[in-house]
Amino acid sequence: MSSSRFTSSLYLLTLSILLQNVLGVDPLYSSCSGNEKSTANYGSYKTSLDVLMSSFYQLAPAKEGFALGSLGQKNLDRPYGLVLCRGDVSSSDCSACVADATREIRKRCPYGKSGFIAYDNCLLKYSNKDFFGQIDSQNKIYLYNVRNVSNPVVFNQKTKDLLSQLANKAYIARKMYATGELGLGGSKKLYGMAQCTRDLSSANCKKCLDGAISELQGFAGGKEGGRVTGGSCTVRYEIYPFVKA
Ligand SMILES: *[C@@H]1O[C@H](CO)[C@@H](O)[C@H](O)[C@H]1NC(C)=O
Repeated sequence: MSSSRFTSSLYLLTLSILLQNVLGVDPLYSSCSGNEKSTANYGSYKTSLDVLMSSFYQLAPAKEGFALGSLGQKNLDRPYGLVLCRGDVSSSDCSACVADATREIRKRCPYGKSGFIAYDNCLLKYSNKDFFGQIDSQNKIYLYNVRNVSNPVVFNQKTKDLLSQLANKAYIARKMYATGELGLGGSKKLYGMAQCTRDLSSANCKKCLDGAISELQGFAGGKEGGRVTGGSCTVRYEIYPFVKA
């Protein structure tokens, strides 16, 4: 199993926006497991995977940014996959991100039985194991802003309050997605987002978000922004509005 944990001390938001505008394709992170080139069944697995991936391009934008599926012959290895667009992206941005994600992961992971790729606007993963409904503790990205806030104790509490409120909304929301803001005094505000992949039960969505919030407090405490993007859920906070209306 390849190591899929990744911590960046760089704050990548500005950079990733620039790169996405200029190049169109630049994932925050990707991982790939297994080299199955030599195994007898890989051909059929790969064919199924290609069909599954191309269906995502149609399905995800049409189904409010989320699609999952599995296909292949019963007695052979078959791929399970899902794709999720961030709750606020338009269906055209969702299509564009899914197109980038499917093309890029096939390029980066041509013979892998499992892969994961995450962008600002979407994430995609697949595996030969049925992972639907399970909380993904392998695929996770941690990002934070290197800038410190001046009043970390108060700020961390506000961050925790906001994200906990959003977790409580997201796990019962139809799209398992919530955004919100909280005043920081004066004209300053804290902005947050929480989202789960919709293969999870409500209970697992809540559990995933609560876990991500406590991880975020650990590594991004006192920082001006931070996020945990995982294969099952994402939480993020910033001191500027980052969600598209
Ligand atoms: C933020 O605070 C940490 C710990 O006090 C310090 O090591 C770091 O240099 C600070 N970062 C900035 C950008 O000032």
